[in-house]
Amino acid sequence: MSYKGLDGWLETETFDGLREAALSNLWFPMQQLNDVAKEGGLQIMRSGQGAKITDFEGREYYDGFAGLALVNVGYGREEIADAVRDQLATLHYANTFSYGTIPAIKAAEKLASLAPGDLNRVFFTSGGSDSVETAMKMARQYHFNRGDKERIKFISRQGSYHGVSLGALAVNQAPWVNRDIFQPMLPIVRVAPQPYPYRCALEGETASECNIRCAQAVEDIILEEGAETVAAVIAEPVSVSSGVAIPGPEYWPMLREICDRHGVLLIADEVINGFGRTGKMFAIEHFGVQPDIMTLAKGITSGYQAVGACIARDQVADAFVGEGDVTFRHGYTYSGHPAGAAAALVNMEIIEREGLVENSAVMGQRLLDRLTALKESPIVGDVRGLGLMCAIELVKDKATKESLSSVPGAGDKLSARLAENGLLTRTVPYLNLTPALTLSAAEVDEIADIVSDGISYIEKELGY
Ligand SMILES: Cc1ncc(COP(=O)(O)O)c(C=O)c1O
Repeated sequence: MSYKGLDGWLETETFDGLREAALSNLWFPMQQLNDVAKEGGLQIMRSGQGAKITDFEGREYYDGFAGLALVNVGYGREEIADAVRDQLATLHYANTFSYGTIPAIKAAEKLASLAPGDLNRVFFTSGGSDSVETAMKMARQYHFNRGDKERIKFISRQGSYHGVSLGALAVNQAPWVNRDIFQPMLPIVRVAPQPYPYRCALEGETASECNIRCAQAVEDIILEEGAETVAAVIAEPVSVSSGVAIPGPEYWPMLREICDRHGVLLIADEVINGFGRTGKMFAIEHFGVQPDIMTLAKGITSGYQAVGACIARDQVADAFVGEGDVTFRHGYTYSGHPAGAAAALVNMEIIEREGLVENSAVMGQRLLDRLTALKESPIVGDVRGLGLMCAIELVKDKATKESLSSVPGAGDKLSARLAENGLLTRTVPYLNLTPALTLSAAEVDEIADIVSDGISYIEKELGY
C-alpha cells in the first residue's frame, strides 16, 4: 500500500530521499524553490501532540504559529480523527448541491448557536479564500436581489490579508502577495487605512484619534464613490497580517454605524480570529458589534479538515429566498463535506468542553505580560496581543521605527536561535505567537523564556 503511516514510512524513507522528491515534485506555496533547496531550507514534519510538532529527525518544537494560526485545539486529537474516520467509512460524500447530510446540518446548527446575534445561516466552503469570495458574491447579490444593482464596490484596509483567489486577492492588501502581477483585478475595490496606532497612516496623535480617523476614512471613501455604488466593507476584527493590529473601542462601532447609515454591508473576516484565538469565541465580540456576514475557516476544524464557512444574518439570507435568479447559484463541490463537518462539530465541542476560549484569554494575558517586559530592548518597537494572538514588532531603530526586516539575515538568525531552543514561529517584521489554545502556564513561560533569549541574542549579534 502506498500509504504506510508514520511507522512504515520511517522504515523506508530517508530525509535525503524525501528532500529530492520534494524538490522535484512539490510546489511550496508562498515559497521560492531556491530557498527551499538551500542547506537547511526544508524541514519535513512528521507528527504533533498538544502545542508541539515533531520533525522527520524526531526533534520536537513548540509550534508558535500553530500551523498557520489554526491548530486551536492542539495536535493529535484522536477524538476528531475518530469522528472523521467514522464519517468517511459511513458516508464520505453526498452531492452537496442536492442533499443535506447529518453532520453538515448539525455543524450549521452549532455554528449558528455560537455566532453573535442573528448570524444564523451558514454557507460552507473549503477554506478562507473561498469564504471571502463567497461573502463578496453574497454581498453583491444581496444588493442586486433588492434592486440595488449599482452596489458593486468593496472597501478593504491597508495591510489586511483576505486570501488569494482573484476576488479575495482584490480585497487582500497584504504587501507580500504580488498583487501587481495580477492587475487588472476587480476594479471596484478601494483601500482604507488600517487602525494601527503604532504606525498610524493618518495624522492621529493618540491611538484614539487614529481609530476615529481610520473609521472616518471609510466613510469618506463611501461618499467619494457614492454610497449607492458600495456593496460592502470587509475587515478582520484584528488584523494579524498587520502584526496583530488591535483597533481601539471606537473603531468597530463607528464602522457599523457608517455602514448602516449608507446601506453598506459589513463583513467581519474571522478566518484567523475566530474560535477562541483572541480570548472570545469570535473577535468581533470584543467590540460589541454585529456584522452582516462573518467569514470563517482555520479554527473551525483546527485544521483537521479543510473547511470554511460564511455566516449571514437572517436579513441577508432572506434576500435570497424567492423564485429563479434570486437563488445564490454559488457553491463548492466540498461545501458541507460530511467528514469536514464532523471534524468541525467535534472541534467546537472540544473548544467548549475544555474552556479553551477562557484559557486563551488567561494564557494570552500571561504571555502578553511576559512579552511586554521585552519592550526595554532596543529592537522591540511594540508588543501587542489579544488572547493567544500576540506579536512583537521588531525594529532596527526605535526612534524611526524602521523595521528589523531591513537588516539582512536578522530574521533568519533569530528564527534559527528560537528553533535551537525549541520554538518555531515567524520572526520579521513581526515575531508572531499564536500557539495552540491548550497552552498551560508552564508552557507559556517556557515560550516566553525562549523568545526573551532570542531577542537578547539578536541584540548582541547586531551590536546594540
Ligand atoms: C483573515 C484571513 N482571511 C482569509 C484568509 C485566507 O484563508 P485560506 O488560506 O484558507 O484561503 C486568511 C488566511 O490566512 C486570513 O488570515
